[in-house]
Amino acid sequence: MPDAAASRSHPLDPLTPGEVEAAARAVTASAGLGPLARFVYISLYEPAKADVIAFEAGGPAPERQVKLVIRERAERASYEAVVAVDRVAVLSWRRVDGVQPPVMFEEFLGAEAVVRADPRWQEAMRRRGVTDFSLCMIDPWSAPNVDPGMDPEDGRYVRPLTFVRSAPDDNGYARPVEGLLTVVNLDTMTVTEVTDLGVVPLPERPGNYSAEAITAPGNIPAFPAGPRQDVRPLDIVQPDGPSFTLDGHHLRWQKWDLRIGFTAREGLVLHRVGYDDGGGVRSVIHRASLSEMFVPYADPAPTHYRKLVLDEGEYGIGMLTNSLELGCDCLGEIRYLDGVVNDNDGKAMVIPNAICLHEEDSGIAWKHTDFRTGYAEVRRMRRMVISSIVTVGNYEYGYFWYLYQDGSLEYQVKLTGVMSTGALPPGAPAPAHGTLIAPGMYGPHHQHFFNVRLDMAVDGPANRVYEVSPVALPAGPGNPVGNAWRAEETLIESEAAGGRDADPLGGRFWKVVNDGVRNELGQPSGYKLLPEHSVAAFCHPGSPVARRAAFITRQLWVTAYDRDELFATGDYPNQSAGGGGLPAFAGQDRPLVDTDVVLWYTFGSNHVVRAEDWPVMPVMPIGFRLVPCGFFAGNPALDNPPPDRCH
Ligand code: NI
Repeated sequence: MPDAAASRSHPLDPLTPGEVEAAARAVTASAGLGPLARFVYISLYEPAKADVIAFEAGGPAPERQVKLVIRERAERASYEAVVAVDRVAVLSWRRVDGVQPPVMFEEFLGAEAVVRADPRWQEAMRRRGVTDFSLCMIDPWSAPNVDPGMDPEDGRYVRPLTFVRSAPDDNGYARPVEGLLTVVNLDTMTVTEVTDLGVVPLPERPGNYSAEAITAPGNIPAFPAGPRQDVRPLDIVQPDGPSFTLDGHHLRWQKWDLRIGFTAREGLVLHRVGYDDGGGVRSVIHRASLSEMFVPYADPAPTHYRKLVLDEGEYGIGMLTNSLELGCDCLGEIRYLDGVVNDNDGKAMVIPNAICLHEEDSGIAWKHTDFRTGYAEVRRMRRMVISSIVTVGNYEYGYFWYLYQDGSLEYQVKLTGVMSTGALPPGAPAPAHGTLIAPGMYGPHHQHFFNVRLDMAVDGPANRVYEVSPVALPAGPGNPVGNAWRAEETLIESEAAGGRDADPLGGRFWKVVNDGVRNELGQPSGYKLLPEHSVAAFCHPGSPVARRAAFITRQLWVTAYDRDELFATGDYPNQSAGGGGLPAFAGQDRPLVDTDVVLWYTFGSNHVVRAEDWPVMPVMPIGFRLVPCGFFAGNPALDNPPPDRCH
């Protein structure tokens, strides 16, 4: 496959389809892989930060290296390889024991097929009055290692749950099969366990959401009049085109300068995020990516308590990214980037329109009216949106980066899709750990956690981090009327102190500064992370759940940069007993002052289910902001042009 010159021009450009396949071929030939070897991940092994910086300063291009994770099913073993793709050389090849790579998409489909064919499962479905098994959806939930025999060395497992459609285009999550538990060994592709805890009737009412289906009388909710007729066209028109330029994966917009990446595990990645304030591009972030997600359910019922999914580490969200459609997913003057991932045969898979780029009006940027003269100055705010949307089983997650004209950035996850459901026996009391969403059906409460890795480089790699906590001063001579407070700054000196908690009422925040670069007021150049949507982990401390997803126990982690520390739960969270990832990174207690620091911010949402979340959930956005703090010497959006169409 030909590689466009533009897409090869920077060492952080995502892999091309040709590179994916060349790396797979190189490993197949060199390692003598058998027919049962499966390619889990084929991704760019990003060069070290120093090599990228040297390249941008005119130095040589670092070698293009590709990292591969392989599952050799015949040996029930996992391997890692690194390939220098341009010279087709395998640089390293090693067996990795005691881990399970993520569930592959072909395993997802394979597990569904073997459960559907299993006589014990079929008998259980007949007991529930279901005989057309083609209408059953069998979702292979990950096996979270909270049971004996589920360690990675014990085998490779998933725990599928069953739902039943009433027709091929029906929302099957409206008919959850309660109390039917299965286990599938993915290496042998056999059903190892079928447990039927007793029949709970399938909920009867449909929960569909298409324009036609919402008119059906039994639907929950039903809209007999059909879609609204009073929504008039709203067109976003940019007659001169958008104000950004996209050259390969290099995006420039309103003084912002960055590169867009995409990986099979993380999906959308931002690289080399900088801001040109007139004197050249100043670095802000070297790399920003979602490092993990965790969705622990709150319901101790047997069908639900193992719903403890680490969606990114256990499945790979880049793999699950949607192809976006103009006018539907994205409105206006849109530019798209494709996502390149691998299939399990080592072939490239291109996800067309995986990343959407566009501009939006975002209300006012600033305003003041001189009330004595009546003279007013107001500016509009515009934002650049870089987004992708992922489907993980029943749920959808939209990942949105926003850049603003005032030098700030925002990250939002938009939660939507269909909730995971459970059925209730007739006459059952209101569910204690969820909310009734249809007769005989409930949505179990759960939490959503996200961790974003921010490899900061504010005006260069040498940064330090302060925790800033507003503190009320004691009343007394220095505080005559009791209103005085100050912003107390605590320098985070090493990783031992790098785990920090948010304080939403106190307004605590964290500030990354370059002490060696000062604005014209003498203040160190910095960005502050405004923690928003902080939620406490409800997993019991010391529980297997808290060990596996330890990143949720603190809202901020600060670590020293390491090229190979990318994921909050480590490289292999699937079936892991925990301990990897952030606790291990931070356990090194590396110094953090005036060095290359990485922030890991955990945010989330307590999803206390509402009736209104059914049958498809209205978008719930959660996230955080990064805003300049001493990076400029005044309002950086002062030069936003006056609106030319005020009247
Ligand atoms: Ni939810």
